[in-house]
Amino acid sequence: MKNIVVLVSGSGSNLQRILDSIEQGIIQNAKVSMVVADRDCYGLQRAENKGIKNILIPRGKSFCTLLDKEIPENTDLIVLAGFLSIITQEFCEKYQGKIINIHPALLPKFGGKGMWGHHVHEAVIAAGEKESGATVHFVTPGVDEGQMIIQGKVEIAENESPDSLAQKVHLVEYEIFPKAIQMVLNDLR
Ligand code: GAR
Repeated sequence: MKNIVVLVSGSGSNLQRILDSIEQGIIQNAKVSMVVADRDCYGLQRAENKGIKNILIPRGKSFCTLLDKEIPENTDLIVLAGFLSIITQEFCEKYQGKIINIHPALLPKFGGKGMWGHHVHEAVIAAGEKESGATVHFVTPGVDEGQMIIQGKVEIAENESPDSLAQKVHLVEYEIFPKAIQMVLNDLR
């Protein structure tokens, strides 16, 4: 049984998808052992609802040091599911190959510092893109620069708004995130 720690900052719908995928056998031989948030958010409640240990470590300079102290030793994978703090180089190096992130665009486009959530969708529409999507990738010290695992695409409609694009991208995230997690877990074996 592989142990996953999930990091969240927001509503946690991707966390919910991961929990449901484990229940439904879409992700096999794995469990979420802990959920960590860097701010008060609904993601913590989703963990609580499932009886999963959940803690809040306030965002800021010492976040990764405190997180490292809390991560159980038997952790196989750390999943950033709508997590908005930057992970330090030291933390990335310690858990190299064991941290993955989902980003709401087709990296390497529309990634990097400041590119998160609605900012991404606004930038994509402003740039007149015809398609967007989501990317699951390994986390390295360069923000949104680690090796890609899976991408999923969506078409952008003529009258697309950042909100409607966010909804479409969320749907593709729910498809690719469980697959990416299973792939990475398989390679850990
Ligand atoms: C997701 O769209 C995720 O790709 C994005 O935040 C949203 C979280 O939604 N992540 C980032 O922007 C990270 N740079 P959720 O809380 O409902 O899962």
